Amino acid sequence: MPYSKVITLEQYIVDQQSMYKDAQGSLSKIFRALELAAKMVNRDVRKAGLADVLGSHGTSNIQGEEQKKLDVIANNMFISSLARSGEVCMIISEENEDIFFVDGADSEKYIVAIDPLDGSSNIDVNASIGSIFSIYQRKKNQLSPCLVDCLQKGKHQVAAGYFIYGSSTMLVYTTGLGVNGFTLDDSIQEFCLSHPTIQIPADGKIFSLNEGNQDEFSQGVKDYIDFCKAKDKESSRPYSARYIGSLIADFHRNLLKGGIFIYPATFSAPNGKLRLLYECNAMAFLIEQAGGLASSGEGRILDIIPTELHQRTPLFIGSKNMVEKALSMLNTDQASETLA
Ligand code: AHG
Ligand code: MN
Ligand code: MN
Repeated sequence: MPYSKVITLEQYIVDQQSMYKDAQGSLSKIFRALELAAKMVNRDVRKAGLADVLGSHGTSNIQGEEQKKLDVIANNMFISSLARSGEVCMIISEENEDIFFVDGADSEKYIVAIDPLDGSSNIDVNASIGSIFSIYQRKKNQLSPCLVDCLQKGKHQVAAGYFIYGSSTMLVYTTGLGVNGFTLDDSIQEFCLSHPTIQIPADGKIFSLNEGNQDEFSQGVKDYIDFCKAKDKESSRPYSARYIGSLIADFHRNLLKGGIFIYPATFSAPNGKLRLLYECNAMAFLIEQAGGLASSGEGRILDIIPTELHQRTPLFIGSKNMVEKALSMLNTDQASETLA
């Protein structure tokens, strides 16, 4: 790209600022904080085999999952950077049991939810991982920051996005005015606009889910998998199966190429695995802004009223026509179960 055409994230945000009546530069400060943390995580990821950041931290998070060293490092980096932004009163994280209240920031109006390191199981094997964030404003009627402010529907997100530490490092985000992607230019350490106005194709040829759990899926999900694998020239089936095990990496590929990602309810985990506040809401906001759909199988992800910080939800997300098809097969399943 000719130098004169390069648009840095900072420049892009300043240009956009005029569109938000209420923004007053606060969002740009939060983005600067997220960007700084992501650059530090990126630095550690890039030399992970050399620095002492691989392997287990020897602790578990609130969900009982083993914490990797990089989970803990990334969590600390995002929290300390956001806390220093001066704009955030509360931070909630997949890695923390409780809300992190920022000292002396009770009057600030922003809340940030983070999955500081997504795809932990891929850290040690050098596959793509990422960081996810959602930004909310406090509810106006609360006197001081509290849990109720954090338990807002996803449709109230002010901004959301992710950093992906892949073959290149990217930021993909939305503020409700479409989705844009920025690639980190290592030589100048700046995120530069590389994927303006991302739209997901309405149809795709990729399905992504952990088929190892097939025995645990409902009949509707099994039927949809069979549909994906069935030969049909007109609809380009069979689709290709692609599943890395990092939501961000699977999501990012499907966003650019078209596809569906599913993490359904299973018999042993009726709410699925993925977390509403740290993972699904951000992805749902992005996919809708890119022209796709996100559902729990029972309704729109962005309409779910959270009742607890670490709540999980099943997720069907991706190209509009593919998600609609999957949901129609679930409904058939439910209808026939009701009839039985
Ligand atoms: P995290 O690393 O933040 O705990 O998230 C892992 C998630 C998600 O990234 C991925 O899609 C999913 O776990 C994979 O789960 P399975 O290993 O059960 O397929
Ligand atoms: Mn995750
Ligand atoms: Mn995580």
